[in-house]
Amino acid sequence: MKNTISTLIAMRERGEKISQVTCYDYSMARIVDAAQINTILVGDSLGMTMQGYSDTLPVTMEEMIVYGRSVVRGAPNAFVIIDMPFMSYQVSVEQAVSNAGRLIKETGANAVKLEGGAAVVQQIRAIVESGIPVCAHIGMTPQSANVFGGFKVQGKGETNARRVLEDALAVQRAGAFMCVLECVPPKLAALITSKVNMITIGIGAGAGCDGQVLVSQDLLAMSADFKPKFVRQFEQVGALMAEAYRSYDAAVKDGSFPTAAESYVKSDCGDEFLQQLGDEY
Ligand code: KIV
Repeated sequence: MKNTISTLIAMRERGEKISQVTCYDYSMARIVDAAQINTILVGDSLGMTMQGYSDTLPVTMEEMIVYGRSVVRGAPNAFVIIDMPFMSYQVSVEQAVSNAGRLIKETGANAVKLEGGAAVVQQIRAIVESGIPVCAHIGMTPQSANVFGGFKVQGKGETNARRVLEDALAVQRAGAFMCVLECVPPKLAALITSKVNMITIGIGAGAGCDGQVLVSQDLLAMSADFKPKFVRQFEQVGALMAEAYRSYDAAVKDGSFPTAAESYVKSDCGDEFLQQLGDEY
């Protein structure tokens, strides 16, 4: 069944938790969709997980569109949210609406996500008024890592806690239907969730949100040298993949792959003809 804004809001109202993971390509999207994950985020974290950058800042609109389209083709049931990359919405409200429109028209995603609280409410309002659902993203917003001095917990201390709560209320007033709370202290995230009507999705923000999001590569343990403190590695898929590649490499090199049964065409011309063909050349 297709997850929609209505089914997600109904889940929140019933107190059912909402699952979300990041995903960036068709084959993974098919697996995620078949696992009945409610929502997929085509995150600009793809700059790090898929492109090897140290942050999300270099990611372009064109790149988001290529990855986003692939995900949408593989996910008929999940509600697909696509990130607006750095500098695609900050410059002006007009540019924000135009880029949000491009992301939806050219990928088929269901909603856009953009980072920031009170500072981006005009953009959120205008995008929602143009008919595009918006997921906000507050707390630790990776596109502002240079301002925070790194990927750091936000909302610690009374002044910051008030600011994060005010950001949540501001994006809700502007029309956001969902808000990611990233690396916010758990009790503050739970308080925000109790004070808003929009869906809250936590990442490193405790169990008090309406749902949770994790980067797929983190939950599958696919980045050997990177494990944020809040991540649970649900399977060691990276190790499993490495083992499969090692077995393949060994089988190619010792000649045990492919067997006769593993050829595309099992038999065609007879031995006599092939002998003759070989002799001719
Ligand atoms: O880009 C991303 O993957 C995100 C999540 C970490 C929430 O914004």
